[in-house]
Amino acid sequence: MAEKKIIAVVGATGAQGGGLVRAIQSDESGQFQARALTRNPGSEKARALADLGAEVVRADIDDPASLDSAFAGAHGAFCVTFFWDHFSAEKEIAEARAMALAAKRADIRHVIWSTLEDTRKWVPLEDDRMPTLQGKYKVPHFDGKGEANSAFTELGLPVTFLLTSFYWENFLYFGMGPKRGEDGRLSITLPMGDKKLPGIATEDIGKCALGIFKRGSELIGKKVGIAGEHPTGAQLAASFSRALGKEVVYNAVTPEVYRSFGFPGADDLGNMFQFKRDFEADFTGARNLDVTRSLNPELKSFDQWLAENKDRIPVDQS
Ligand SMILES: NC(=O)c1ccc[n+]([C@@H]2O[C@H](COP(=O)([O-])OP(=O)(O)OC[C@H]3O[C@@H](n4cnc5c(N)ncnc54)[C@H](OP(=O)(O)O)[C@@H]3O)[C@@H](O)[C@H]2O)c1
Repeated sequence: MAEKKIIAVVGATGAQGGGLVRAIQSDESGQFQARALTRNPGSEKARALADLGAEVVRADIDDPASLDSAFAGAHGAFCVTFFWDHFSAEKEIAEARAMALAAKRADIRHVIWSTLEDTRKWVPLEDDRMPTLQGKYKVPHFDGKGEANSAFTELGLPVTFLLTSFYWENFLYFGMGPKRGEDGRLSITLPMGDKKLPGIATEDIGKCALGIFKRGSELIGKKVGIAGEHPTGAQLAASFSRALGKEVVYNAVTPEVYRSFGFPGADDLGNMFQFKRDFEADFTGARNLDVTRSLNPELKSFDQWLAENKDRIPVDQS
């Protein structure tokens, strides 16, 4: 039997990387072996990955020597950064560069870089339809990732750019789920107007990443956008109403109002939604559902995800 090819997975105890480790370890073809990178191999999440047969190694993307050890001998590397841990696009760019350099030193044969659009290509800094943030970004958690694409290409790495989508799980963990207003009605609030919001179950991101690695060299040098569905705000609300058995309405606010909500990152997210709204054709067009399903035949629609997760939606059940 051929030796399994090792895939080094950054963020393995998190959403994207965790999905990839689980996808690799449950893949019947058995052609890959996951190497899960974590700062804390003793954590419960890390031990759960070891229980699946993943190799668990200590690594910190801010420590190049630890990346060298973690990437050594690997065929592939899945690279992701963690904007919401620090809110700094600059730090994401530096971390992407550190991973690209380590991938080069380790002669990795296939890198997947989990990236997003650099929105400044659509909305230059001088365009005042949305405010400039952190001095030189429109959507910092997008722009930094998009800018960091060059860290991989400039080194001539065999890289696939994976354009991810809004996690359905944001309705569980990111405070975006249905909330009861003063009028007693449940609503979801998004500044998307009547435009489509591509979304995906986080577990499907890892499955798609495995699909990309399984295609061999076919998708190297390509951008691959993924989504499980492209629902509008009204369609999301209708899905919530059906799943929860109580009416949920769509509260379509303006991006200006969304930015003013004041929670950490509200300005970044307000700009992000405005970008998705104003450039709907480009943004949804870059995330083809058939391509996504071809990489991951188990891809879930929002309704399918909701059916499995509705009991975890933090709504006041009164
Ligand atoms: N929310 C959305 O809708 C959405 C959509 C598309 C893209 N994104 C992007 O997804 C990215 C985050 O990915 P995720 O959701 O998979 O992350 P996550 O679930 O927050 O997991 C992050 C994991 O990365 C590890 N980590 C953090 N800092 C590290 C470091 N310095 N070195 C090594 N490992 C480190 C942590 O593991 P240990 O503690 O075990 O080390 C943690 O479990 C963000 O940049 C965000 O912009 C989010």
